Amino acid sequence: MIKDIQQEILRLKAENDVCILAHSYQAHEILEVADFTGDSYKLSVDASKVTNKNILFCGVHFMAETAKMLSPDKRVYLANPIAGCPMAEQMDPEMISKIKEKEPGRKVVAYINTTAALKTVCDVCVTSASAVKIVKAMEDKKLLFIPDCNLGSYVQKQCPDKDIMLLNGGCPVHAAVTAEEAREAKALHPDAPLLVHPECKPAVVELADHVGSTSGIVKFAKESSAKEFIIGTEISIAEHLQYECPDKRFYILSKKIICPNMKLTTLMDAYNSLVSISRDDGEACEILMDDELIAKARVCIDEMLRLGG
Ligand code: 13P
Ligand code: SF4
Repeated sequence: MIKDIQQEILRLKAENDVCILAHSYQAHEILEVADFTGDSYKLSVDASKVTNKNILFCGVHFMAETAKMLSPDKRVYLANPIAGCPMAEQMDPEMISKIKEKEPGRKVVAYINTTAALKTVCDVCVTSASAVKIVKAMEDKKLLFIPDCNLGSYVQKQCPDKDIMLLNGGCPVHAAVTAEEAREAKALHPDAPLLVHPECKPAVVELADHVGSTSGIVKFAKESSAKEFIIGTEISIAEHLQYECPDKRFYILSKKIICPNMKLTTLMDAYNSLVSISRDDGEACEILMDDELIAKARVCIDEMLRLGG
């Protein structure tokens, strides 16, 4: 049954010149039909190079919005219209503009998990894979890092010469893990290195054997000679690694690290979106943005690609 739907998806996407981009937190059967998969940074770079007329994004809203900004002449669709990221909605442009007025010398570094409207008041975007590299590459010393204070505090530790102001935001999924859970997992699997995403709390990050973005964790696990690992990020990553490395064992750090927003998208959402795109009946969730918003919000994404490339 799943294979039949996947076949139909492949047919519809070829017939209608659609490229499917899927974040690594999506289910395995979705990744199997995608043209590009990966973390936020890789998908941004991929989105800027797509040659198809249409993009179907399996992920959350800010990711499809970023793809639209990078490929404004293409029609970009989000497979599930209600899949959003709560972190992206945590801060509004007015609030950040007020801080900028009080702290005129501070450059604003925005995690890519932000709305396009918020990006218009930011100087540079980062992803978890590129944050340290980009902050190090910036000439400015005084920065405001939004919205994730956990990622921000990890970047601050890696870049001690910078003065990074943080606000109280973050990913509710990763931030739910406790240091006690990390200690318990390590005690249960003493030979397994603990690999942790920097969206986790500093107390959890401190216990990690390796700290990395989604792509960083996957690379470390694949290249390491260790035979078992505790995966401290969204549980899909442990699943995908288990498919790709059947000779190794992957344990999840906590059952709490499951993103309900990423899990909203199903294979049927991708299929239904493609049917709608083929009929152009307006049922698929198309990302529509005016040119002025794209031009203003894109500045910090272009800066990210320039400094992170
Ligand atoms: P990365 O894809 O940058 O690792 O971020 C993880 C995440 O939480 C995406 O929403
Ligand atoms: Fe947002 Fe966290 Fe889910 Fe990523 S894992 S989409 S940051 S809520």
